[in-house]
Parts: sequence; C-alpha cells; structure tokens
Amino acid sequence: MQRRNFLVAGVLGTAGVAFFGAKSLYSYDIFEQERDFAVPPLYEGEVKNGKRVFNLNLQRGQMEFFKGLKTETIGINAPFLGPTLRAKKDDFIKVNIKNSLGYDSTIHWHGFELPARMDGGPHQVIKNSSIWSPEFAIKNRASMLWYHSHLLHQTGAQVYKGLAGLFIIDDDESLNTNLPNEYGVDDIPIVLQDRNFNSDGSFRYVSSMPENMMGVHGNYVLVNGVIAPTLKAKKKLMRFRILNGSNARYYLLGFSDNRKFKLVGTDGGLLEKPVKLSQIKLAPAQRVDIVVDMSDAKDVVLKSYKGAISQSRGMMGMMMGGMGFDREFDILKIKSKDAKAGSAKVPANLVQHPVWNPKEAVGVRNITLQIRMGMGMMNRSSRDDNFFINGKSMDMNRIDAIAKKDAFEIWKVVNKSPMAHPLHIHNTQFKILSINGRLPYPSESGFMDTVSVDPMQIAYIMVPFKYYSDAKVPYMFHCHILEHEDGGMMGQLLVT
Ligand code: C2O
Ligand code: CU
Ligand code: CU
Repeated sequence: MQRRNFLVAGVLGTAGVAFFGAKSLYSYDIFEQERDFAVPPLYEGEVKNGKRVFNLNLQRGQMEFFKGLKTETIGINAPFLGPTLRAKKDDFIKVNIKNSLGYDSTIHWHGFELPARMDGGPHQVIKNSSIWSPEFAIKNRASMLWYHSHLLHQTGAQVYKGLAGLFIIDDDESLNTNLPNEYGVDDIPIVLQDRNFNSDGSFRYVSSMPENMMGVHGNYVLVNGVIAPTLKAKKKLMRFRILNGSNARYYLLGFSDNRKFKLVGTDGGLLEKPVKLSQIKLAPAQRVDIVVDMSDAKDVVLKSYKGAISQSRGMMGMMMGGMGFDREFDILKIKSKDAKAGSAKVPANLVQHPVWNPKEAVGVRNITLQIRMGMGMMNRSSRDDNFFINGKSMDMNRIDAIAKKDAFEIWKVVNKSPMAHPLHIHNTQFKILSINGRLPYPSESGFMDTVSVDPMQIAYIMVPFKYYSDAKVPYMFHCHILEHEDGGMMGQLLVT
C-alpha cells in the first residue's frame, strides 16, 4: 500500500467509526512520512505616526493536511491560522481587521489588559465585508498571548476551522534575560490543536452529542497546522512557547526520553526563576514557555502522556477514559544533530513579580461551574444552554459581575461538575493562590489568565483589574473548553 493511501485510510478509519468506539491518536508511526515543521510568519506591523499598525484579513482557504486531500479552512492573512504579531510593552497598536469570510466573526485579544471596547468579544462583531480597527496601548508584560474568534455560540466552530494566531510581547526585562530569542530559530512558537476529519478531508466538528458535553477531541494533533511535523533544531538551547489552542483537549507534555526542561514562563509572562520539570500539564488556552537542552544531538519526540485529564469516578470518568481522551501520543519530532551553536542561557533569576497580599483584596467573588447532565441534555443541540456559571447561562443582556478598577478581588471558583474546566477571565493576568488546599504547580505559579479546576475542586485566585474601566461594555469570563463556552458557561463582567 502506498504511503498516501495509508494516510487516507487512516482518515477513513477514524471518521467511519462511531464516536464511542473511536480509536484515538495514531495506531501507526505518525512520523513515517516526514513533514516539515511550520513556523507561523512573524508580523511586526509598521510604525506610522507613533502607532504600530497591523493589517489583518479574515479569509477562507484550503489546506492539505493529508496529501491529496483538501480541507476547507479559514485563517488570518493565510489559509489557516494567522501570523504571529509582535510588539513591545507600551507600544500603541492599531489593528485593521477586514472580514472577508462571508459571515460574521470577531477577533478577541486573549490575555490582554485592554479597553473593553477593544476586547473583541461577542459585543464587537465584525460584519462580513467590514473592517474593525481596535487600538490600544500594550500594558501587559512580556508574554505570549493569542487572538481568536469569539463570536457568540460560534467560537468553537470558527477556531476549529482556523481563526486563531499568536501575539508575542517583549519588554526591556525580557530582552535582557539572555533566553533564546531568535524567532523561528531558537525561539519556536507551537500551537497545538487536535482535529477530526471526514473521509473527504473536511473538518468534522461536533458529530455527536457527547462532543457537546465533553468538548470536541480530535484524533489528529496539528502543530502550527501540520500533523506530526519534524523540527530540525539548530541551537543547543531551544525555547518552545507552547499554546494549547485546542477546543477541549488537555495535554500532559513531556519528551520521549524523559529529559528535563526548564519552565521559564506561563500564560502572562516569565516566572521569577526557572523550574526544572519533566512533564507539564496544559489546559485549553494556557501557554507555557520552556527551554530544552538539545546539545546531546539525539532525536526526541515531544509527546502527551496519559494523565492529562483528572477524571472523576462514575459515568463521566468512564466516558473520558473510554473514548481515548486520556492517552499517550506523539506530537512533534525534534532532530538535533545540527544543534551545535548558541550562547543563550537560562539565568537563575528571570524577572521580578510584584508582591500581592491577599489581604489587599476588596472581597471574595463566588463562581460556581455546573453542567446539566443526563438525557435532558443528551437530546439538545449545541445551541442550547447546558452549561452554567452561578446557575445561569450566558446572556448578552445581563451583567453578571461588577468589579472596581485598581482593586484586587479573590475569586473562589467552585467546580460542581464531573469534568475539569479551564476558567478564563478577560482583561487580567491573575495569580492562583490555591487549588483544593494545595499550592499551585509550577506551571500555574506565574501570571495566568486561565485556571483549570478539576472536578469537585475549589480554586482561589487573586484577580487585579488595572488600567481600564467602562460603565457599559462588559468583558467575558468563561470556560475555555469552547463547546462549554458556546453552550453557555460564560458570564459578563463590568469593570467600573
Ligand atoms: Cu480566549 Cu474569552 O477567550
Ligand atoms: Cu480572552
Ligand atoms: Cu468547561
């Protein structure tokens, strides 16, 4: 059998199987056919009259994820995904976003601290054929944030087709760390997205009811839009900035030879000190910044280990495990025989974080996450609301929380459901104080915009709202399992 047919058969195989029996993630050597690693193009905009201006076009396109098979996609200045935008803290940016999709969309600036009107959530719809031009000063510290569609009830579908991209922010502190910093050479962005395909090559999005409940988990993992690519490392120290851009899948990342790496940053920027680890858990929407030593010239595979999902007992646990959501699988091959050069280092101290005293908080806000379970839900489509925050599903006409600018709040996030939920809050980079009584893990210890709370657990986080207020336009807070967000697990927050 020819290789091409082999891969096509793989597609047919997974697409043809009923969801409950879906065999997941590569029963064969996914690296047998070598595919080149793709680096998203870097786009630093143009400085005009003191503004850094970017021009983006939301467009339709086609990709060949499998040789000989076309997939209809959408992207930003590209058929699938978008360029990596890059700017410096305190830059004033303007982004002209033209919508050429043929239908409505939005572009949300995930992780940014910015004016509510510029946020790009469900209230800032970009109509087909129109242009939206948000502009704001960059307040965030050096970090890798991202942008993606946030259209009400359609975020999952639009991100799945490709409407997402990265945004790297630099600052003086980060540029002075001596960390690997050459984009695409030793500073490598990685967007992880799992996808399912139909036998004709088209994306298969939400094909069964359980996918609405548990979120859509794909049988193939795209790395910057390529299935199981091979990266040729050129430097001894390689930095990987990894976004879990998946709709619902959790990853427990590590290397095939168990080599240790250094965690240097989380969602909202660099840690104070690097932490040596061999595995790291990444919930949907979260990012990690790691540095790996490749000077031994060995080939190694970045993979996801079993244990990514914390299952609760009972029906849900069985479904999550039984459907192959918690499996070991390969993601990316790294060849390092040429990884010889480089003078980058990971310093013992990276940056300084301000000290936040929980006693400064103005109060505790209770956030309860719930799912409607059982047959009532089984019969519903994704448009119906089965997901709740504090007993309510998302309503564009209801404000759920009002916070004060310049104040800290403690959010007590209680997960009263049998699934983990990554709760994301707009317009803030917060710190996790505790999760079920334990201190945050290293990957949760820095600035975060998304906190994952396991089934029946409670997280306490300390949340600042700085810089901007708006008496009318709300920010969103929501579960970043996109099918949960689209299904109602989202609320609206005013910062006044
Ligand atoms: Cu990444 Cu409200 O989103
Ligand atoms: Cu966001
Ligand atoms: Cu959720």
